Amino acid sequence: MTRLLVNIDHVATLRNARGERFPDPVQAAVLCETALADGIVFHLREDRRHIRDDDARRLLDNVQGKVDFEHSLEPEIVDICCALQPDLATLVPERREELTTEGGLDVLGHTARLKRVIPQLHDAGVDEVALFVDPIADHIRAAADLGANAIELHTGEYANAATLGEAQRQLTRLANASRLAHELGMGVHAGHGLDYHNFPAFRAQMPFLDEVSIGFAIIARALWVGLPAAVGEMRDIVKGSK
Ligand code: PXP
Repeated sequence: MTRLLVNIDHVATLRNARGERFPDPVQAAVLCETALADGIVFHLREDRRHIRDDDARRLLDNVQGKVDFEHSLEPEIVDICCALQPDLATLVPERREELTTEGGLDVLGHTARLKRVIPQLHDAGVDEVALFVDPIADHIRAAADLGANAIELHTGEYANAATLGEAQRQLTRLANASRLAHELGMGVHAGHGLDYHNFPAFRAQMPFLDEVSIGFAIIARALWVGLPAAVGEMRDIVKGSK
């Protein structure tokens, strides 16, 4: 059954906007777990715009379920991930001027760095390393060759599709990518822009889907119904009981 990991970065975004000590992303993570999220995701960005080093440490100390530490290939951040030893490290591209991650990692363009970083993480005791990729066969094959345990498929183009035809075109690409990754022995994760409305059609067409990482939609919904209910609603959709 597909696992739901909740990204709590935007709780820290809200805290930092006022320079306050609350809302605390660690408290949010604990609440998500009481609502039976399978795990928590955070992205320690190079500019520390939301999650900070101390948050990362406290999240690792307090989360009982799976922890996905999302980060770039920047050596300073890779070292922090190695020291904290999360269950999963998801490698993503990062540009300072972007509002959020804008696309998958250029796996072919970063082969040399990935050849160093993936073994570094494994050697440090991070058992699962995923690459966040667009649904492009060459990148997925390269991820497998480099020793990645999983890919996280970038679902942003599906989520932002302006027409039903374009959404279907993206779903077909994602489904083919999921099949290929599974054939190559990798886990299939997905995320970016998934929400309460676009998830069911996505799920229905994905042949393999081990895990999803969902943040913005859940944190935004929490403003209306509270975080445990927002997580519970998404969990029902992800697990297929709604
Ligand atoms: N996966 C990755 C790699 C991301 O960068 C993000 C955004 O932080 C997400 C998943 C979650 O996306 P969203 O907040 O749109 O659900």
